[in-house]
Amino acid sequence: MKPWQRDPGTDESPPDDAEGLGIDDLRALREQFVDFMLGYKFAIDQVTTKINILREDFNNTHEYNPIEHVGSRLKSPESVLEKVRRKNYAMNLAAIRDNVLDIAGVRVVCSFISDIDTIRDMLAGQEDITVLEERDYITHRKPNGYQSMHLIVSIPVFRSDRTERIPVEIQIRTIAMDFWASLEHKIYYKYRGEVPPNLRTDLAQAAEVATQLDEKMEALHRQVDRSAPPAKHPAPDALDLSVLYHNLTAGQPVYLRPADPPI
Ligand code: GTP
Ligand code: MG
Repeated sequence: MKPWQRDPGTDESPPDDAEGLGIDDLRALREQFVDFMLGYKFAIDQVTTKINILREDFNNTHEYNPIEHVGSRLKSPESVLEKVRRKNYAMNLAAIRDNVLDIAGVRVVCSFISDIDTIRDMLAGQEDITVLEERDYITHRKPNGYQSMHLIVSIPVFRSDRTERIPVEIQIRTIAMDFWASLEHKIYYKYRGEVPPNLRTDLAQAAEVATQLDEKMEALHRQVDRSAPPAKHPAPDALDLSVLYHNLTAGQPVYLRPADPPI
């Protein structure tokens, strides 16, 4: 069989070390792993597109954009295999597929706390998305202060020769939660996980301040929202477009609202 063809049989029981493998076998193994990882890259592309669509559509329909920014990362092959070792999973693709659910990661940073549920519901409600797992670290903040909504979803990826359902970890959080998490991450790595007690206390306090800021901003946002009730539009399908036609032919183009206001 050609090395680039997927053979489910070889997925099951690759040798534990590469010493007995010839150069061609090793190359085939690498190619299979690259092909496997590519599915996760495509899943990130799919989810990112979905979020960008929500962002642009929300902005157009509600004149408001709940998404500040979107980021993503594909776990490196080294850290995938390192996690397999650390968690004692079997060293094969089937075990990775079933157990390592954060190979594809997408992070959505929202403006306000209430946007988190909005985005969560909009994604979870999409027909091709299945929520496999949900961790609400906002209602149940981690002891160190970490806050974020985590979803593990699965999404179909249409490859040239097959369809795969790929898991993606989606983290949804506010700017304040994200700010805190990125600083905590740096501190955690600087101290290799052994964060001194005084810093831990300060971090927990900073998390509290971040929550207070989020709540204050949410309250302000609600006040502004209340003062500007959304315009009511009639059902669009029955609208008479002849006025629009005359308007357009008279040289008045229609512009799509840009996703982000110019800065
Ligand atoms: P892993 O085995 O590390 O994947 O953790 P998990 O499967 O128990 O999932 P969990 O939801 O706890 O964490 C998933 C991801 O959330 C991590 O990879 C981080 O990106 C983020 N995260 C979780 N806890 C923390 C935290 O305390 N601080 C920061 N900065 N990020 C965190
Ligand atoms: Mg994880």
